[in-house]
Amino acid sequence: MSNSLDGRVIVVTGAGGGIGSKTVHAAISRGASVVATDLAGPGLDEVGALDGVVAVEADVTSRSDWERTLAAAIDGFGHVDGLVNNAGIEGAIAPLGEYPDEMFDRVMDVNVKGVWTGMKVIGAPMLEAGFGAIVNLSSVAGLGGASNLSAYSASKHAVIGLSKSAALEMGPAGVRVNAICPSPIDTRMMRSLEDSMKTDDVDQATMQALIASNIPLGRYGQPTEVADLICFLLSDDARFLSGAAIPIDGAMKAR
Ligand SMILES: NC(=O)c1ccc[n+]([C@@H]2O[C@H](COP(=O)([O-])OP(=O)(O)OC[C@H]3O[C@@H](n4cnc5c(N)ncnc54)[C@H](O)[C@@H]3O)[C@@H](O)[C@H]2O)c1
Repeated sequence: MSNSLDGRVIVVTGAGGGIGSKTVHAAISRGASVVATDLAGPGLDEVGALDGVVAVEADVTSRSDWERTLAAAIDGFGHVDGLVNNAGIEGAIAPLGEYPDEMFDRVMDVNVKGVWTGMKVIGAPMLEAGFGAIVNLSSVAGLGGASNLSAYSASKHAVIGLSKSAALEMGPAGVRVNAICPSPIDTRMMRSLEDSMKTDDVDQATMQALIASNIPLGRYGQPTEVADLICFLLSDDARFLSGAAIPIDGAMKAR
């Protein structure tokens, strides 16, 4: 199969969420074993029940949780070849002047420091082995501003900076690092954003149609479509692709 991940061991964070769970399914269908991590919840339980998956309850902001995740990969499968830093939060929707300080810190902790710590801890055995691939979830909000989402947008710009820096540092050791930048994707996160953006005059369904109308392909992306790109980037088919920030956005950022 093209984009084969046969024999690969991949750590996926936020594995119980919309894009994360589809990534777990896509990776195991391509032959990978997966260490699926997330906060405790039914999403993690569901992917944890799949063959070829070890589930670990882990908060990406906790260094010791990352170390437990690495131990689960090594104890369970003997090696680790890939990391998908997918866990993320949208934070608040508010103009900058009203944005709660503590929420800014939380968004940075999860979306930026979580990615950084993951690359440090899970990247270490890849550097030692001289082989590996890392995919970090940025966003179209990492390629341009996003009104009322200042912390989220800043965090996703930071993910691109982290990814490119890590690609430069890790490339000579044979480890590839890429960021991907999805437009709105049909998951819980968009339901939450639509809900916060709706007004007395514009209900949630109308808000969704309005957002979709800003995407040249005329619709939200599906989480499976993002999962397919992630698996391609993890696979040897992408063996010369590193340090990129790739939009998957129905041409939204072609403007
Ligand atoms: N849905 C979109 O429109 C969209 C667009 C661009 C980028 N993204 C990015 O894609 C990624 C996945 O988003 P999604 O749409 O699947 O959302 P989602 O809310 O369905 O999934 C996010 C997952 O991250 C987990 N998570 C949150 N905080 C965590 C923490 N501290 N430790 C561990 N896990 C934590 C959640 O429990 C959840 O399972 C995020 O990084 C998001 O920013 C999403």
